This record gives sequence, C-alpha cells and structure tokens, in this order.
Amino acid sequence: MRLDKFVADAAQLTRSAARGLIAKGRVTVNGQVCKKADWPVKEADDVRADGKSLASEEYVYIMLNKPAGVVSASTDGRDKTVVDLLNGAFPRRQLFPAGRLDKTSTGFVLLTDDGAFAHDILAPKRHVPKTYHVVLDTPVTPEMARAFADGVTLADGQRMQPAQLFPDAADPCAATVVLRQGVYHQIKRMFGTLGAGVNGLHRTAIGGLRLDESLAPGRWRLITPAEKALLQGGAEG
Ligand code: URA
Repeated sequence: MRLDKFVADAAQLTRSAARGLIAKGRVTVNGQVCKKADWPVKEADDVRADGKSLASEEYVYIMLNKPAGVVSASTDGRDKTVVDLLNGAFPRRQLFPAGRLDKTSTGFVLLTDDGAFAHDILAPKRHVPKTYHVVLDTPVTPEMARAFADGVTLADGQRMQPAQLFPDAADPCAATVVLRQGVYHQIKRMFGTLGAGVNGLHRTAIGGLRLDESLAPGRWRLITPAEKALLQGGAEG
C-alpha cells in the first residue's frame, strides 16, 4: 500500500493531511525518514509518525457527552445522531452507540465498532452499572430509595432489578441513580410509577469510568486502554 494511504488509514487522517505529515519528515519507515508519499509499504514495515507506531488499532472506543436533542443511533433520517457528532472523523469505521440515551437525556455515550465489547457492556447478565444524575419535578423521598432497592414494578407489570438511589445533598429534587439493566425509558418509567416526573437525566458513568467533565456537550475523545478496562468494572465511587 502507498505510504500516504497507509498513514491516512492508520491515523484516521485525510489523504492530504497524511501527505503533509510525510512532506514535513514526520513519518519514518523502519527507522528512516521517508518523504515519498507513494513509497510502497510492506506488511512487516514499522511505520511511525512523530515516533509513534501506526500499527492500526483493531477497534476504537469513544467517550461522547451527548447533548439534548441528539438521538442515540448511527443514522437517522430526521434528527442529528451521536455518530454525526464525530463529523466524519473515522470514515472507515462502522461506529455505533453501545447503549442508548433518550433524545432528551444527556451525558456519557460510548461509541465503538467493537460489537463483542458492546454486547458485553450491555448484557444484562454482566450487570455493568450505569450511573445517572436525575432531576425530578418533586422532592426525592426515602420511599423512592426503598422502592428502587426493592425493585420497582413498571406500569406494564415488568419488575425491575433492584437499583440504587442516592439523594443529592445539594438539591432536594435531585438524585444519583445506579442501574444494572437497560429497559426502554427505564428511569422515567420507574419514577413515573412512584408519581414523579423526570425533568433532567444525565449519564455520568458507565461501569467504573466517569464522563470526562472537561468534555462540553457534543464533544468527544478517545478512551484510553486503561479507561476501557474501567468500563467493565463496578460503579464509580
Ligand atoms: N432511563 C431513561 O428513562 N432514559 C434514559 O435515557 C436512560 C435511562
């Protein structure tokens, strides 16, 4: 494969950005600077940009802070999707959200092209906790916390697994909720059976990995290998 195509693919750059790196002498092949964009790269070659190996990662894992009004899907005929927010940064990857947040909900969405990993995070048997900050239209009560701990029965008769509800010391109408399953509109429906409406729902963590607070709504970044391991772990502290 030509060097510029190899660099573009591995570093997820446009072909012209890859050529720019090569022309500036920032790309090496087997330890030698190579400024020829059409240099033929062979399977065993060690290609680096700024000293960093470009052996392409098999999968990508992205942390996105979903804003309200965006849908948790790869494509949608009408609404902007969480994948649209990546602005084509990974043109050769089939990215999708691992788990959904409602259109009105905000916060941590994991985007990946690793189907097996996504399945593992979402599988009910794995019990990977998802943590939410919830704002109600009424004060949080000790009865709500007890009902969540016992397992709320939804209006359609489905009994939810026990969940945790921690009142927010700073706001009587706010709480942190930790769920270990993912049923459609689960938190809104759980509070609905207890006579409370949800005014705000923000996912703050998946497993033991917290949403990076420096990510403004709509912004994203790659998840590091160490953070990826946290995704499969217990609730954040
Ligand atoms: N529960 C809900 O009701 N909505 C979400 O987006 C996530 C959990």
